[in-house]
Amino acid sequence: MDDADLQMLKQRAPGLAAIYHTGRESILHAADVAALEQARVTTLGRKSALTEFLRSISTLPAEDRPLVGKGGNIIRKELEALVDEREVRLKAAALSTSLAEERIDVTLPGQPFPAGHEHLISQTMREVEDIFVGLGYRIAEGPEVELDYYNFTALNTPPTHPARSAHDTFWVVEQRETMPEAVVDADRGVLLRTHTSPVQVRVMEQQEPPVYVLCLGKVYRRDSDATHTPMFHQVEGLVVDEGITLADLKGTVAHFTREFFGGDREIRVRPHFFPFTEPSIEVDVSCELCGGKGCRSCKHSGWLEIMGAGMVDPNVYGFVGYDPEKVSGFAFGMGVERMAMLKHGIPDLRLFYDNDVRFLRQF
Ligand code: DAH
Repeated sequence: MDDADLQMLKQRAPGLAAIYHTGRESILHAADVAALEQARVTTLGRKSALTEFLRSISTLPAEDRPLVGKGGNIIRKELEALVDEREVRLKAAALSTSLAEERIDVTLPGQPFPAGHEHLISQTMREVEDIFVGLGYRIAEGPEVELDYYNFTALNTPPTHPARSAHDTFWVVEQRETMPEAVVDADRGVLLRTHTSPVQVRVMEQQEPPVYVLCLGKVYRRDSDATHTPMFHQVEGLVVDEGITLADLKGTVAHFTREFFGGDREIRVRPHFFPFTEPSIEVDVSCELCGGKGCRSCKHSGWLEIMGAGMVDPNVYGFVGYDPEKVSGFAFGMGVERMAMLKHGIPDLRLFYDNDVRFLRQF
C-alpha cells in the first residue's frame, strides 16, 4: 500500500486507525496467555469492531471498496501476527518461570525408607535350625490343620487317654463320617495341631531309619495369659537309628544349649511323663540372671525349664511299622517363644504379638 493509498484510506475509513491502535495496545499489554486470548477475541473475534468494519464494506461506494477492503485485511493480518508473536513470548516466559519455581534440588537428602527385618520368633527359629542342620538334621514339615490320629492316637495317646485333656484345642471337624477310612476307627476328627509332635509320625511313615529331622512351626492351644497365647511356635526333633540311647539325647541337648544360650549354661534333666516317650524327661537350663544361685526369674530354683523329651515309646514304632528290636531313638520338643524369652530376658509373651516396632526393633 503506497502513501497515496494510505492517505485515501485515512479519509475514507477514519475509524480503522483507531481500531488498529486499540487492538495493538490490548495485545501488547496482555500479561499472560489467558489475557492474550481475551484480547484476541475482542480485537479479531466475530463480534469485534474490526469484523464489523469489514462486514460493512459492502455499504461503501463501489469505487472505495477495493482499497478499504485491502486496508482492512492488512490490518487484520498485522494484528494476527502480533497475537502470534505475543503468544510465543508469553509461553516462553511462563515456561521459564515454572522451571525456576518448580526446580528440584537433587542434593536434598531423600525420604528415609525404613528397612524391616525378621521378627524375633523367625530369627530364633532360624538360629535353632542352623544349629541342628549343623549336626546333620533335615528339616521336616507337617500341616497345621491336623488329623486327630497324628496329633494324638499314633503318638500313643488313644481317644480315652487323660493326657488329651491337657491339650484342649480348636476342633475343625469332630464328625467320624468326614474322616478318611483308614483312621475312622480310632479317631474323632480334625483339629489345629496342639504340638509339632505329629510330624514325627508323618516322617516315620514316609521313610525308613536312620531319621534325623527337625520340624519348626505353629501350634495351637486354648490358652491365653502372660505366658500362653492361643498360637505359638514349637521346635520338634526326632532321631531314630541303631543303638541310640538317652546319653545321645543328653549330649545333643547339651550341645544345642551351649550353642544357643552361650558356653557357660548348664543343663539338668528331670524325669517326667509324655505318652509318646519312655522314659520321658524335662530339660532345664541354668538361670542366667542369678548364675544358678536362685532368683525371682527362676522361682529361686536356679533352673528354667526349656524342653520336654525322651526315648521314643516302642508303641509309636508300632504305628509306623518300625521294629523296636532293631532301632531306638529320642525326641524332644520346645517352645520357640520361651527360648527367645529366656535368651533375651523378655518378661511377657504377648510382646511378640503386639507388633509394637519399639519392641521388635531391638532384636
Ligand atoms: N509335644 C510336647 C508338648 O507339646 C513336647 C514334647 C515332649 C515333644 C517330649 C517331644 C517329646 O518330642 O519327646 O508338650
